[in-house]
Formats: sequence, structure tokens, C-alpha cells
Amino acid sequence: MRETGLATSHLVYPLFIEAGLSGRQPIDAMPGQDRLGLDSLAAEAASLAGLNIPAVLLFGLPPFKDEMGSGAWARDGIVQEAVQRLKDARPGLLVVGDVCLCEYTSHGHCGIVRPDGSVDNDATLPLLAETAVSLAEAGCDIIAPSDMMDGRVATIRAALDASGHTETPILSYAAKFASAFYGPFREAAESTPAFGDRRGYQLDPANRRMALHEVIADLDEGADMVMVKPALPYLDVLREVRDAIEAPIAAYNVSGEYSMLMAAVRNGWLDEQRAIDEVLTSIRRAGADIIITYHAKQWAQAMA
Ligand code: PBG
Repeated sequence: MRETGLATSHLVYPLFIEAGLSGRQPIDAMPGQDRLGLDSLAAEAASLAGLNIPAVLLFGLPPFKDEMGSGAWARDGIVQEAVQRLKDARPGLLVVGDVCLCEYTSHGHCGIVRPDGSVDNDATLPLLAETAVSLAEAGCDIIAPSDMMDGRVATIRAALDASGHTETPILSYAAKFASAFYGPFREAAESTPAFGDRRGYQLDPANRRMALHEVIADLDEGADMVMVKPALPYLDVLREVRDAIEAPIAAYNVSGEYSMLMAAVRNGWLDEQRAIDEVLTSIRRAGADIIITYHAKQWAQAMA
């Protein structure tokens, strides 16, 4: 009688890869999650294979940051190098490359910043396109822009096609809300904006119709899959998007959702396995085909 299925095949596991790090470094704000050095990726790929987790989403901590975020599209950039190591260790691993500048810019914003501190949407687009092409060239199977600049899906699609990556799909972070739940991620990825916030380009949590509008705009621009993010505070949006479109939908069970649950578990207030299973099942029930979650390994281990 069970209506909703959950399997490891639905899960994508995010990895934080730090340049210059050897081994693994625990992330304080995300108990159980580590930053990984390039030298620990082969073991990580093997551990994910053992758990049948099919896919990873990569975030990089570069060796340097600048105004433009040039580490994002460097040929020897941290994510570019990581893809090769992962593919060498496990050729069948599906690698999703996150496209954004915030981990690479000195100011921590997702785009080029004007002298008055605002983000210049249109000037940012070519840099995102260059990043996307560089990640596809490095071997990423799916390109996932998370910056929320207007028009970036069309720009990235055109750049991928022009560089021969016509078969590389785009998973667009279409309905990405300006959320407090990204807090732990920003510690993990060192991407907290030095000034201001992301409300100029991410969605207002109060806006449901706007979210649908963004999803449809991204599909029109050529997105193959769309994302709703965060997941739990936006399950209504997820359901609404599911009912409105045919394309595959991903939901991102973000860092704050993870850390909140883990903090309660560590205090003995929640049963870890039951809570994780219920959270992931609810995201599937709301309509997600794909769940990006830091709980992926834990859940898969318990099911094995
Ligand atoms: C980069 C990006 C963020 C997340 C994924 N890509 C942070 C942000 O927008 O500040 C958040 C993921 C998480 O919280 O787990 N733009």
C-alpha cells in the first residue's frame, strides 16, 4: 500500500573539496560532514560506490579568491581537478558541477559587484558560461547553475552548445529562496557575503507564484531539470511545481535542514534513522525525483 518509494538511486551527495587540504577536515557546523582534500577523493568514490549512491554534487574551496571569481573557471581549478580524480576512481559516478561564483569571489557574492555594492546581473553571465564550459570540459556530466542571475540558463546552454557539449544537461536551481538555512553551507564553503545579502537575486520566501514563474522561465531558456531549494520549508512549492511541469525535479535538502536534525539527534531528542527516513520520504512525496542531501550516506548505510 506504500505510495512513495525512496531508494539510493534518488540521492545525490554533495562534496566540499578544499585546495591544499590533505585528508579530511570535519565541518563544525555540519556534524558528520567533512571537507575533502583531492587525495581523499578516490576513497570517497569507493565508499559511495559501496553504498550504491549514484551521484555527487561538487563544491570547491579554491586556493585564492578574487573580485571576479576566476578560480571558478580555471583549467586547473579545484573542482576541475576533483572531477578527474573521481572519474578515475569510479568512471560510472555521475558528477554534477555546481556553477556559481560565490565560493571564488573575495566579496562572497554570486556575481560581479558594482562600486555601489549591487550585483551586476548581465556582466556576470559570461563568467558563469565560462565556468559551465570549463566544468563540462573537465568531465562534469550535469551542469547546475545556483547563482540565480536572470538569463543564465540560456547563456550557459548557448555556450555549452557552441563548445561541443550539446549533450550536457542543465539542472537549474530555478526556485532558490533567500534562506537562513544556507548558514552552515556558507561556513563549509567559506562563501558568506562580506557585505549585504543575496535577497537581490534569490527568491523571497513569501513568494509562491514567483517561484513557479522562475521555474517556467528556466525551462523556456533550456533547463532540462529544475530544482526547488531548500526542501522542507518549501514542500508546498515543490508539490506545486510537480503539478505544473513534466520535467524532472530535484529538491535540495540544504545544510541548515541537515544541521538542525543532527543537532537534535546529538542531544538525544530525535531518533536519527527514523527522522532521516521521514524527511527524505516527505521530500519524495511532495514530488521530487532527485534529492540532494547530506544524509545520503547515512540513509544508504542504514538500508544496506
Ligand atoms: C551557492 C550555493 C549555496 C548553496 C548551494 N549553492 C549557498 C548560497 O546560496 O548561499 C547552499 C547549499 C546548502 O545550504 O546546503 N550559491
